[in-house]
Amino acid sequence: MAEFIKVAKVSDVPEGEVIGVDVGETRIAIANVGGSLYAFGAECTHMGGPLDEGFLEESLLQCPWHAGTFDVSKGEAVDAPASGTIPTFPVRVQGDDIMIEEPS
Ligand code: FES
Repeated sequence: MAEFIKVAKVSDVPEGEVIGVDVGETRIAIANVGGSLYAFGAECTHMGGPLDEGFLEESLLQCPWHAGTFDVSKGEAVDAPASGTIPTFPVRVQGDDIMIEEPS
């Protein structure tokens, strides 16, 4: 059964912001889209750009390196040069703690 682990506090991720956290050796980005939290792999599918340093507008996150864009609610690339999907992780909120399903 999947385990959920604490990765950040809700107050660490204001609405409209994205942050990065290290979970083991995996860099995970957490975005707050209108109060809904999404967790996903922080490595861009194009050339590995740091998505946790990208630009978030509603659910669209633009990679800081070449402006490829992902819909973080689905993990899908929606604009080139990004393509394919990034891994997404289920999120739970317990009190002020953000928990995500541990990456396997
Ligand atoms: S590394 Fe993200 S668009 Fe190129």
